[in-house]
Amino acid sequence: MALASLVLRRCMSSNTPPANVIKHVTVVGGGLMGSGIAQVAAQNGHEVTLVDVNQDALKKAIGTIQTSLKRVVRKVFKDDPGDGEKLVSETLERIKTVTDVKEAVKETDLVVEAIVENLEHKHKLFSSIDQIAPDHTIFVSNTSSLSIGEIASVTQRKDRFGGLHFFNPVPVMKLVEVIRTSETSDDTYEKMMAFSQAVGKTTVSCKDTPGFVVNRLLVPYVAEAVRMLERGDASAKDIDTAMKLGAGYPMGPIELADYTGLDTNAFIMEGWHKKFPDEPLFRPVELMRKLVSEGKLGRKSGQGFYKY
Ligand code: 3HC
Repeated sequence: MALASLVLRRCMSSNTPPANVIKHVTVVGGGLMGSGIAQVAAQNGHEVTLVDVNQDALKKAIGTIQTSLKRVVRKVFKDDPGDGEKLVSETLERIKTVTDVKEAVKETDLVVEAIVENLEHKHKLFSSIDQIAPDHTIFVSNTSSLSIGEIASVTQRKDRFGGLHFFNPVPVMKLVEVIRTSETSDDTYEKMMAFSQAVGKTTVSCKDTPGFVVNRLLVPYVAEAVRMLERGDASAKDIDTAMKLGAGYPMGPIELADYTGLDTNAFIMEGWHKKFPDEPLFRPVELMRKLVSEGKLGRKSGQGFYKY
């Protein structure tokens, strides 16, 4: 049995996924989300081209993938370390890294955008590759908070455009939100579903609404926890312990804010607040803004609400 299908069998639910016609994937952006998406795609047999702005960023992304693959192998191949090593080398062999996005998309079935959460940057990227990528190529964004329809608006392939929202850490979190706009075709939607299932994830269908399902609930929840802290209702540690032990969450909300990045959380809230000023749940939180302005971004900067 091919190693990829062995991993699929071990890692996936028993549901038989629909036929997946996506063979080659281009992931643009080698940050935590992009490298995670590249990893799960390659791990499950896809040829992947990972694109970032320079060699340093690409080197860092491959380092992240190597570390994560070792964790997967330790877990899945406890009894067959040989097969585990083979999975690592076969997965890495399927990932090509480049800095020229126009070159990367010339022959690809799917482009997954995982760059900075900024509409202008996303527009610039998609308009630069729209005329170069083959006609059949599907474009998707992994945006956490922007409108898929607005991102797609600069392209001539709105029927072949949608959202695939993965979660951090991508190799571990089992969900992908599949977002279709009013213009996404049925064929594109089915291919997005099939691809997500082929990379071992469970899918949920979402409309193109702010935050889709998960972030629409999670971002205001985290903000409310920070407001509690701001008011002095409870300590960060007690808020986290309360939600872990009282509600069974794997991480408390303050820990989670540090984990996903305070800048990311604050940025999402600011964007939604600007767009929906009457929605009290989207009101930015002063304490979060203050920490971000001090460069305390959470785990990635060594300090957020906690020190790392
Ligand atoms: N790659 C591969 N495996 C990983 C990994 C990674 N990056 N990170 C963790 N793992 C594996 C570990 O090896 C471990 O495997 P094991 O069970 O065989 O030991 C397992 O996952 C659990 O990891 P740890 O023991 O290190 O730690 P925890 O048990 O505390 O789990 C966690 C860590 C999976 C992050 C868990 O705390 C969790 O689920 N937290 C909530 C995460 C969450 O809510 N994510 C969503 C954020 S929102 C988002 O992403 C949306 C975006 O738009 C902002």
